[in-house]
Amino acid sequence: MVDGGLEEPYRERMVLDPIDLQTNGPQLLYGLRYHTHINKLDEVLTFHDQVGYWLWEPATRTLLQTLAIPRGQVAMATGTAEPDARRFTVKATLGSPTAGIVSAPFLHENFKTLSYTLTITLEGADTLHYEEDTVLQIADRPEPFHHTDSNTLKRVAAAKPNPAALAAAATPG
Ligand code: HEM
Repeated sequence: MVDGGLEEPYRERMVLDPIDLQTNGPQLLYGLRYHTHINKLDEVLTFHDQVGYWLWEPATRTLLQTLAIPRGQVAMATGTAEPDARRFTVKATLGSPTAGIVSAPFLHENFKTLSYTLTITLEGADTLHYEEDTVLQIADRPEPFHHTDSNTLKRVAAAKPNPAALAAAATPG
């Protein structure tokens, strides 16, 4: 997190598991369920925790990221990505009915999140880099605050098959 001279290094573990295809009327969505867990380098206590889904609709190239943070905050960010994209961005803005942010009253009044933008770059087969900019309006500050985060994550384990594929593999014959 960097702004106004404050920078805090962290270490992160992100687990992404494929889910079965989701149908929504005419829509077909592919997806991953994710959990990211972050610690400061010298602390066992959780620094940031986040869960959600990544969803992609091939027909429209639409990308959705849902996220929930245990401070009483949820958001859904959207963007587009081609099947072979190596770089893509999703964004959520306060007040949008389709790509918005909802915060519990304490956060909404004191640390209002105005927007959230995440860009992911895939570097080679096993490396993911992200840049995140969460713009907060803090109650006693005249200017919005850019809560920025970035990291480069290396794959440490192969993806698990989705539930239907796992069930099929377990069925004899
Ligand atoms: C790498 C990811 C992230 C890390 C390491 C991180 C870490 C932190 C930390 C350390 C604080 C200050 C806590 C305090 O002083 O009480 C904070 C504040 C905050 N973060 Fe994040 N954060 C991350 C991502 C996000 C995202 C994605 C959002 C929302 C979309 C978000 C929303 C907020 C809000 C609303 C606050 C202000 C509330 C408060 O200070 O209690 N953060 N974050």
